[in-house]
Amino acid sequence: MSSQNDWETRVRQLAAERDAVILAHNYQRPEIQDVADHVGDSLALARLAATSTARTIVLAGVYFMAETAKILSPQRTVLIPDANAGCSLADSITAEQLRGWKREHPGAVVVAYVNTSADVKAESDICCTSANAADIVAAIPAGREVLFLPDQFLGAHVRRVTGRDNLHVWMGECHVHAGISPQDLRRKVAADPAAQLYVHPECGCSTAALWQAGTEDFPSQRTHVLSTGGMLTAARTTTAKSVLVATETGMLHQLRKARPDVRWEPANPRATCHYMKMITPEALERCLRDGQSEVHVAPEVASRARRAVEAMITVGASA
Ligand code: 13P
Ligand code: SF4
Repeated sequence: MSSQNDWETRVRQLAAERDAVILAHNYQRPEIQDVADHVGDSLALARLAATSTARTIVLAGVYFMAETAKILSPQRTVLIPDANAGCSLADSITAEQLRGWKREHPGAVVVAYVNTSADVKAESDICCTSANAADIVAAIPAGREVLFLPDQFLGAHVRRVTGRDNLHVWMGECHVHAGISPQDLRRKVAADPAAQLYVHPECGCSTAALWQAGTEDFPSQRTHVLSTGGMLTAARTTTAKSVLVATETGMLHQLRKARPDVRWEPANPRATCHYMKMITPEALERCLRDGQSEVHVAPEVASRARRAVEAMITVGASA
């Protein structure tokens, strides 16, 4: 415990010396979340990066999040504790592939989930996160075709919520969320039939849970499709005694802190993102001490990507 306290003290001191704000995603290791200035979902982190006045932003998350921070705050130094912290979902589409898809659908509006590279954002009209995807798509005139990328499960969810049939979905996926299956969820529901369900829309189980909502397996009043930030908001006022959580297991830390009286159970306890977990306590301390690794985005890419991210920030309302 005292070595944990010593580490926290060193990290806070190094952050103060560097005038750095530490922004951590909800999937980070508990000790990283606890030492950070702010913990949130990808939309909240983007908003915080856009308005931060600190000289340095340390993004304790994955690379596309750090790139988004740099795109929104080009005048600040943006650091990521491990530059190898990638994302299988962001890797599922390249800028070249997107250009090809756009050629097949001239005039379509391109909506890119923030889990994409800066190059892909630069080819997009507007970004979205899981917290605001349906609002963003609903704001596009009904007659316009939409290219939604890269997550197939979030895309299916948005198509269902908005009722649009002119929304084309890229068939990408996140290996962690896609690995949470309808069977995992069904098994857990059977073991705790009174539990509420919080499902992240990237999950393989989310479409099944939605299509079956109202059945005995997935009762509609108890099934909530939420971003990670939305889960925390719902947790604060829930009257449930137990909740099954279908997302990366790092989320449980904030949920348990917010409501220790509720039983929080992962839908799949093996759903951990090894990219998120690359941000170790040692890596964070080294990053603050040595100023490594700095994130750069080429200015012409950043200015095109910024239009798409800023358009999202002005439209998006948190789920
Ligand atoms: P949100 O935090 O926006 O819900 O996204 C989850 C995610 O997969 C980030 O990697
Ligand atoms: Fe990417 Fe999935 Fe990890 Fe999120 S959980 S960073 S979408 S690989």
